[in-house]
Amino acid sequence: MQSSTSLSEKICIVTGANAGIGKATALSLARMGLTVVMVCRDPSRGKSSQEEVIAKSGNSAVDLMLTDLSSQQSIRHFVEAFKVKYQRLHILINNAANFDLSLKEPTLTEEGVELIFATNHLGPFLMTNLLLDILKTSTPARILNVASKGLVAHPRLAIEFDDLNQTKRKRYSPSHAYYHSKLAQVMFTYTLAQKLQGTGVTANCIRVPAVAVDIGRLGNVPRILLSLYRLKMRFSITPEDMSKTYTYLATAPELEGISGKQFDEHHNEVDSSKPSRDEVAQQRLWQVSAQLTGLM
Ligand SMILES: NC(=O)c1ccc[n+]([C@@H]2O[C@H](COP(=O)([O-])OP(=O)(O)OC[C@H]3O[C@@H](n4cnc5c(N)ncnc54)[C@H](OP(=O)(O)O)[C@@H]3O)[C@@H](O)[C@H]2O)c1
Repeated sequence: MQSSTSLSEKICIVTGANAGIGKATALSLARMGLTVVMVCRDPSRGKSSQEEVIAKSGNSAVDLMLTDLSSQQSIRHFVEAFKVKYQRLHILINNAANFDLSLKEPTLTEEGVELIFATNHLGPFLMTNLLLDILKTSTPARILNVASKGLVAHPRLAIEFDDLNQTKRKRYSPSHAYYHSKLAQVMFTYTLAQKLQGTGVTANCIRVPAVAVDIGRLGNVPRILLSLYRLKMRFSITPEDMSKTYTYLATAPELEGISGKQFDEHHNEVDSSKPSRDEVAQQRLWQVSAQLTGLM
């Protein structure tokens, strides 16, 4: 189905839009004339990024709305406020993620879920589900979830249904929690795409490779990790480069109707691990996620 809505009439949400790839994508979409809702958790970081995007794009239709993706209550408030302000939503980019490698033990959110799983999987799961009605009335519409190329190094990683909070491990690993949450996003994308068949809303997943991160944002990570990050930078692409892929997947007419796929930074369709394609596990993950977010 070809879109009859011109780009300048399209409304999109980018989460985690005050930094890195999210901010670069907000700018790229704003430059194309779309209405961009930058979803951020921190008012002052959000405000200065919004001002920067408006100034650089010359597009004043760039809004800032606040939500903390680790808090289900905050997501519910955001969705309510969004639906009061906007009657349509054509593109949802679930970009925000927590990869705080300084975490030494599982931190539980106000809803009792481990912080990384809550932010990177349950948050986007809840937000997407609460926005499905408005996406379905704005077709053709697209949902983009964000995974990681690092998952390639974890081909046997499966959803740990008996330890979603990562409390049973000998030693908590934020890196393990991060890849576990990203695997969940890949599996969520596949189930979502299936459930959305025939609705005019598509769901795809982006496999992000090493992308430069602002070192100043890393906070209290040990020196050794800082050195590793600096080393990683040498092999990283820029957030602006990566935002080109996000923008392409969000807007390219030739991708209309394409759903349930994972794409790399070159826009190529790429396969995901065997455990991620386990349909029984996908269904189970959906059910557990719906239970944990109060959707059933
Ligand atoms: N960079 C890489 O090498 C790499 C590799 C694989 C995948 N990815 C994925 O690419 C995406 C973007 O990463 P990036 O490199 O652009 O990272 P980044 O520069 O650190 O940006 C992350 C964004 O997520 C936001 N965020 C974090 N926790 C949040 C929460 N609880 N609620 C709302 N927003 C929250 C951050 O906001 P604050 O400013 O408030 O923290 C920030 O805007 C992520 O999904 C990441 O997992 C990145």
